[in-house]
Formats: sequence, C-alpha cells, structure tokens
Amino acid sequence: MADRPVVLLGVTGGIAAYKAAELLRGLQKAGMEVRVIMTRSATQFVGPIMFEALSGAPVRLDHVSELRNDSKITHVEDAQEADILVVAPATANTLAKMANGVADNLLTSMILAFGKTVVIAPAMNTNMWQHPATQQNVAVLRERGVFVVEPGAGELACGDYGSGRMAEPDSIVAEVKLRLQVQRKRDLRGLRVLITAGGTREPIDAVRFIGNRSSGKMGFALARAAFDRGAAVQLIEANVDMPAVPGVLQIETPTAGAMHAEVMKRLPETDILIMAAAVADYRVADGPAGGKIGKGRDEWAIGLEATTDILCDVSAHHQGQFLVGFAAEYGLEGLGRARSKMEHKQLDMIVFNDISRSDIGFDSDYNEVRILTRESEVLVDKAPKETIAEIILDNIAQAVRARQGETPLPA
Ligand SMILES: Cc1cc2nc3c(=O)[nH]c(=O)nc-3n(C[C@H](O)[C@H](O)[C@H](O)COP(=O)(O)O)c2cc1C
Repeated sequence: MADRPVVLLGVTGGIAAYKAAELLRGLQKAGMEVRVIMTRSATQFVGPIMFEALSGAPVRLDHVSELRNDSKITHVEDAQEADILVVAPATANTLAKMANGVADNLLTSMILAFGKTVVIAPAMNTNMWQHPATQQNVAVLRERGVFVVEPGAGELACGDYGSGRMAEPDSIVAEVKLRLQVQRKRDLRGLRVLITAGGTREPIDAVRFIGNRSSGKMGFALARAAFDRGAAVQLIEANVDMPAVPGVLQIETPTAGAMHAEVMKRLPETDILIMAAAVADYRVADGPAGGKIGKGRDEWAIGLEATTDILCDVSAHHQGQFLVGFAAEYGLEGLGRARSKMEHKQLDMIVFNDISRSDIGFDSDYNEVRILTRESEVLVDKAPKETIAEIILDNIAQAVRARQGETPLPA
C-alpha cells in the first residue's frame, strides 16, 4: 500500500449522490487519494466536473472509452492501483447487480475486477430498502465479505420519514479508515490459528438431531480477519451454511465428538485456538438409533450422556498455546460464570456474549461482547460481527505479543 491510500469512490444514481462530495472531502482530509467513478445515472444527479475539481483527477464515466490515456483498460488497471473501493451512495439497482455478479457498466466491472476490500453505503427510499429483494442482496454481499455501512433513519428526499437514508459521510470515512488499518496490519503473520465455528448436532436417529441456533457467523468473521492479518488459519466448522473463506482450510465436523477429535489432532500445530463454536454438552446415550424411529407412543424419553468438554481436554494437553473461549450466557449475571469458566479451564481469554438479547448473538449479523482476561475486561459495543472479530483479534494479538516477550510461542 502506498503512503497515501488510494480510494476508488463509486457514485451511483440516487439523491444522496450530492453527499458523495462531502464524503470525498472527508476521505481526503483523512489522508486518502480519491478517484471517482460515476454510473450514467449518477451523472443525472450531479455533474462529474464537481468531483473532477474536488479530486484533482479525471472522473471515470460509463459512457466513454474503457481505455485510459495510457491505453490500459480502465476497470482492470484502476482496480489494481487502488487500496479500497467505496460505493456511496449505493442504489438498490447497483446492490442487486453486485449480488448477482452483473458487470454491465464501468463501476460494476470494476467491482468484479477488484480483489480487495469493498465498502458500500446504501441509500434509498424506505420501501426499497426494506424490500426482501434488497435485504437479500445486502445479506449476500455481506456474506461475501463486503462491508456495509447501514443507512440510518430520518427524513428522506422523497419526503417520507424512515430508514434508507445514507449513513453520514463521517461514519463512512470512519469505516474506510478502519478497513485500511486492518489491511495494513499483519500482526498475526507467522502464527497458526485454529478456529471452531457453528453449532454441533447430535443425532437421535437417521433424521433427527439435538442442535442449537449458532449460525457460525462469528467464527467465520474471525477466520477471515485472522487470514487478512497474516495468520495461517484452519477453521473447524459444524453445520454452517456460509460460503467458503478464501485462503482458509475448512474442516467439517458435524458432531461434538468429531469436532473434539479434529481440535485435539490439530492442537500441536496451533499457536492460537479460538473456540467460537456452540458445542453440544450432551449426546444420545448408547448412540443414535439406526434408521428412523417411528411414531406411535405418547411419550418418549431419550437418555443423554455428557460429551467431552473440548476446552477442558485442550487445557489438560496444551503446550503454551493461547486459548480463547466463548461464553454464551443468559443475562449479564452470567459474567461471573464466564470468568470462572476462564479460570477453571485455564483459558487466556474468554469472550462473553449475552444471549438473552434478540438483537445480537445467535443468528444475528451483530454482536456485543465483553472480552475478559485475567487482568482486564473490555466492553465492545454493538457492532457488525466483522468489526467485533477485528477487536477480538486486536486483543489477542496484543496479548500474544506481550507473552512472546516472556516465553516465545511454540515454533
Ligand atoms: C429522482 C430520482 C431519485 C432516485 N433516488 C434513488 C435512491 O435514492 N436510491 C436508489 O436506490 N434509487 C434511486 N432512484 C432510482 C435509480 O436512479 C435507478 O434505479 C437507476 O437505474 C440507478 O442506476 P445506477 O445504479 O446504475 O446508478 C432514483 C430515481 C429518480 C428518478
């Protein structure tokens, strides 16, 4: 990355296009060089001359040659030269194209050719924003690793009051700064990180199981962020319905027993273990029945037996690995239980989250956590799981570095 990071700012055709000028100024003030690409529709809202004057660089437009003055292809070369791509405002139309890999104009071609971080700031009328199609497109993009600066609520250009108003330029600048900082960080380089994610399922018979609501989003966000920071990452996952994380070795372990075996097998080649999976505490005693158990009884009692506690086994066998557990507890009073779990299982860190809240945690894109170590407690306010993952890794990297000063991690 050059000293001054280069931002490609894609402006699409919504009323909030005028706010892109303020955003451009904010990015420049934060020390970034900005190059603007406008869709044809955006030019009907604001003129390219304004962006050209503010950015001091030619504005890329849809309807002019795809060859630059140096005869290189614009959407490929510009993409290579930039550090981050920001689409603000992002219309419902452009979001839909992005989610479907459509490349029918310069901006959408650029987005496909761009292998680095993409940030979007949607802006539209409330009904457009809340439409299931738009919500699904945003979810697809988020799962693919696009960072979404959520629109806020307020008075919209159409006169309505509701959600869909583009986030304030200051919040978008803050997100871009955070993403660039993460790209610059390579503080986990050379470290081997093992992460568990998802929720295990214990079979009752061939079709039924005892499971939990963990989606795996937190563990996947951690895996992606750890890889971006230079770690060699292995992800042991149970029943997660999410796209693969590029660069990360993924191992499927549907049950607590399978996950336990994989963790123990890989532990000797691990420097940092992060147990973000929700692992079943009990499984069916004597194993699952063969075939499908038929109905025809009024009551059915299933005998359960405890599964092996993976973290207890790890702490009995570990050789200096940095151990991080997660504690999903009901209500803030669970904080004390999380702390004693950390002590009892000899963990270096435990991430506490309160599952009594419906707006965070299980199955949500958001979380709010407390990161506990023996010496400290850090509250991380409600934020997208990607941001929470970065903050957890900041804390881990700091603690591992501090420890390396005392005893080096295994080579
Ligand atoms: C006056 C007016 C305002 C519009 N505002 C928005 C908007 O805020 N958000 C949006 O998603 N679409 C908005 N649209 C619709 C888009 O301009 C339209 O979907 C267009 O095809 C977007 O093209 P683009 O995504 O290539 O820029 C508006 C259209 C008009 C005529």
